[in-house]
Amino acid sequence: MKSTLVRTLGFFKPYWGLLLISALCSAIVGGMDGAIAYLVEPVLKKIFAGKDTGIFLLVPAGIVTLSVVRGFARFIYDSTIKQAGQKAIQDIRNSLYASTIRQDMAFYNRKATGELMSRMTNDISQMQEGIGQVVTGLFRDLISAVSLMGVIFYRNWELAIISFVVIPATAYPAQLIGKKIKNASGRSLNVMGGLTAILQETFSGVKVIKAFGLEKQTIASFQATNLEFFRQIRRYIKYESLAMPVSEAIISLGVAGVVYFGGSQVISGRMTPSEFFSFITAMVMVFTPIKKLQGSYNVLQRSGGAAERVFHLMDERRAIVDRPGAADMGRSSGRVEFRNVSFNYGGEPVLRNISLVAESSRMVALVGPSGGGKTTLVSLIPRFYDVSKGAIFIDGLDIRDVTVASLVSQIALVDQETILFNESIANNIRYGKPGANLEEVAEAAKAAFAHDFIQQLPDGYDTNIGDRGLRLSGGQRQRICIARAILKNAPILILDEATSALDTESEQMVQKALDNLMVNRTTFVIAHRLSTVLHADTIIVLEQGRIVESGSNDDLLKNSSLYSRLHSLQFSDRNAGNPSDEP
Ligand SMILES: Nc1ncnc2c1ncn2[C@@H]1O[C@H](COP(=O)(O)OP(=O)(O)OP(=O)(O)O)[C@@H](O)[C@H]1O
Ligand SMILES: [Mg+2]
Repeated sequence: MKSTLVRTLGFFKPYWGLLLISALCSAIVGGMDGAIAYLVEPVLKKIFAGKDTGIFLLVPAGIVTLSVVRGFARFIYDSTIKQAGQKAIQDIRNSLYASTIRQDMAFYNRKATGELMSRMTNDISQMQEGIGQVVTGLFRDLISAVSLMGVIFYRNWELAIISFVVIPATAYPAQLIGKKIKNASGRSLNVMGGLTAILQETFSGVKVIKAFGLEKQTIASFQATNLEFFRQIRRYIKYESLAMPVSEAIISLGVAGVVYFGGSQVISGRMTPSEFFSFITAMVMVFTPIKKLQGSYNVLQRSGGAAERVFHLMDERRAIVDRPGAADMGRSSGRVEFRNVSFNYGGEPVLRNISLVAESSRMVALVGPSGGGKTTLVSLIPRFYDVSKGAIFIDGLDIRDVTVASLVSQIALVDQETILFNESIANNIRYGKPGANLEEVAEAAKAAFAHDFIQQLPDGYDTNIGDRGLRLSGGQRQRICIARAILKNAPILILDEATSALDTESEQMVQKALDNLMVNRTTFVIAHRLSTVLHADTIIVLEQGRIVESGSNDDLLKNSSLYSRLHSLQFSDRNAGNPSDEP
């Protein structure tokens, strides 16, 4: 908890100038409270003495002056500290996003997207509230409490001691309630994470919900989670509402004691009435900042929990980082070698003792039954995951010995899932080469057979993809992804089922685009349709994580093997259905 606080405050460091200004102004505001309580005594004394009539003019003028000065200081104080708080929160959010987006694939497999979104939004807002309220009030309340206590002790230290026995007594229940609040708000934020997850999944998967008529069911599960959220938040509300009355009740004991003992001191003449009033004024005034400080404590508990979760996520260890002294590998020739590579996602091995070589500019095809490990195998090349055993080399360099950035720059990936962002088409292609000019973009699009259809769109290359690219066909999306890969111009190309979602016509177009892309690149192709891989230099058959066969199409057909079984199955089927498909 303490380190969380220190860490949060660390984010204020760049804004120390603002903090300094606000600290000064808060000292004025807080000190003013003490001054007002102190001045009660001399003013009353003069009034009671009844001789100085001028005081009747001075008092109202004094009240106005004091409150104008106090108000001005408060304005400066509030606005500067809030600004600093907002800036610090902005930095925290930026830094959380940056550390999260740099995480490796294993991290994203572990975490639900909704949970991550909830950390970025709900937990950060909770922190923001904490910082806003606590930092704003803390300074001022602390100073005004201290100055008022000064007056109290100065006026009558015996009475002060009696009354301050009461304040520590309020601390214990406050702490107890604070803990409850922290737990309850932690639970409610977890449920809120679940809620965000449902939103994210159902909005992005709305097609399935419609197709299967699952609206009712989805609504019910949303309502159930929402109800759970209400239950958790209700507890939290209960504890928070309890905090004030409990501390007020305890404080009233203190006030009662003071009035009783102070009153008897005045009656016995050991204290003047003006001193007593000054004392009582300070006493009454001091409870406001003290109650506020206790309220701040509760907010601190709540936002402290949120901050802990935020920092926890920020600190999550990254498995895939540059080794110290990792070199930039420059531009490789694209020779890829797997040497005795085994891999598991944490459980059973998914790849077992894989050794293979893809010579520069050659094409390697991976085929085999679903779940055989094809996608896993290629995802080891850009280090989405690190091998469990063995090693992978590019141009003889272990890929763990070079910088991740230079490794990734060797590889262009076209996946079955065509991921386009909600931006213009040109910008989507530019992900392949940030900063590329429009000519380069169009050149890549032409090679990807995408130029023509892009030009026919209302805004051409400036057309926005729209959320999830709903306005484009599967083949068109795929060709945009291919253009992106062409623009990247990397020596190694990975095509994972890049044509599997397409009909024959668009497949031919995409295939032509891919042929353009494959020239002079080492290519790994994964395809269920063997027509795509017939002309590969090497075909590797993967089954249950093992290479069971490898060789050229002709080599493999000679043996009565899994490959020839797959081959005869596919081509007898296709020939019967559509003879023109014969490769
Ligand atoms: N992120 C993951 N976490 C845990 N296990 C995984 C993960 N991804 C894949 N697997 C498992 O690894 C094995 C190989 O999966 P992989 O996706 O590599 O197969 P594939 O050959 O590409 O299959 P397909 O042809 O269906 O795409 C499967 O048993 C799968 O369940
Ligand atoms: Mg796969």
